[in-house]
Amino acid sequence: KKHTENQIVIKKAEYYKPILAVLNRHKPRRIPIWFMRQAGRYLPEYRELRKGFKSFIDMCLNKDASVTAALQPLERFDLDGGIVFSDIMILLYALGIKVDFIEGEGPIVGQLGKDYQVNDFKKYKLNDEVIEKVVIAIKLLSAVIKFTHPNVTLIGFAGAPWTLFCYMLEGKKSSNFFNALRFLYENYEDSISILNILSDHIVNYLSYQIEAGVEVVKIFDTWAGIVPFRLSRAVIFNPIKNIVSKLKTLHPNIPIIVFPKGISNQYTKFSMYEVSAVAVDGTADVEIKNIAFYDRCAIQGNIDNILLTAKHDNETMIKIIAHAYHLLKNVPTDRLIVNTSHGLLPQTSIANVEFLISIVRSYR
Ligand code: CP3
Repeated sequence: KKHTENQIVIKKAEYYKPILAVLNRHKPRRIPIWFMRQAGRYLPEYRELRKGFKSFIDMCLNKDASVTAALQPLERFDLDGGIVFSDIMILLYALGIKVDFIEGEGPIVGQLGKDYQVNDFKKYKLNDEVIEKVVIAIKLLSAVIKFTHPNVTLIGFAGAPWTLFCYMLEGKKSSNFFNALRFLYENYEDSISILNILSDHIVNYLSYQIEAGVEVVKIFDTWAGIVPFRLSRAVIFNPIKNIVSKLKTLHPNIPIIVFPKGISNQYTKFSMYEVSAVAVDGTADVEIKNIAFYDRCAIQGNIDNILLTAKHDNETMIKIIAHAYHLLKNVPTDRLIVNTSHGLLPQTSIANVEFLISIVRSYR
């Protein structure tokens, strides 16, 4: 792979952005920090914007609302990453699957019926009009961020095949996704076909986002943690590996972050793939003894999102310092993107968020 001189100069300029620097193994100017669900109901300005839409899907697909929501946390906090305002369910919606969001319950997804046919699922195609809306919003957001927040890296995303499968087969959020796992056991071959079909759509969906201007893509496997170990290769690792290798063929320079939530230290297996960083939750051990892993992959994580909902008093601040220092002292600073264990919750204290950012900014 030969770079022309211009390409090399452009690459160096990109490393001015701390997240891109870490993902490309360069020392960042400062330790990067951003949050999953940094746009959301804990922000009064988000709640105000949200009032304008009955349907959350309509809000995601409205370019002005989507761009505004994505910019809100960047305007309020000194962050290094911006994430496209959308949802992992939009891909299912674009495939023509019924998706609704019910206040307090989360997504309600049209299930593959009892007399489902994998062949029906094979016919699903990404709807051009929905993709066009996503693309237009990303182009606009990318253009605005270049002017208003030139150090911010724009992150696009998709759900992983397994997590989308969970919602498709369960129909809604669940603590153990009983119906999805049971379907997997009862219809194993078909389940693998469905995961493969979803993988191809995810590659295409992420490619559209990359072409529209996202600089990094993140794959959310929120329900990886419920998969029994003996099935994890087939339903988590293989599908993600295939997506990563296809994306890297299409877009060799795009850094990829994978978030396999809840799989504890199995996250280290992702260092075998062309993944630039693994986002980890609180079940992962991020100690210095993992140095061989850090050599291959950066770590993104993993301050407890629930800690940030605690009352903002001295005790909470001491805990935030302790949690942040554990991360900052163990992970080499050129291999770390500070983030939370999971998305910021509606009960998050804005003062705690500000305090955590200030700790990272003042760390030497
Ligand atoms: O700021 C951001 O991170 C950008 C946008 C974003 C949303 N959802 C917006 C959203 C992203 C990256 C997601 C990803 C997502 N969505 C995941 C993967 C990451 C994770 O948190 O595990 C999952 C599993 C979903 C599915 C989903 N969407 C659920 C379970 C819920 C309901 C829970 C809730 O908080 O209501 C949503 C709704 C949702 N997605 C909201 C937002 C801002 C809240 C909806 C609202 O404002 O009415």
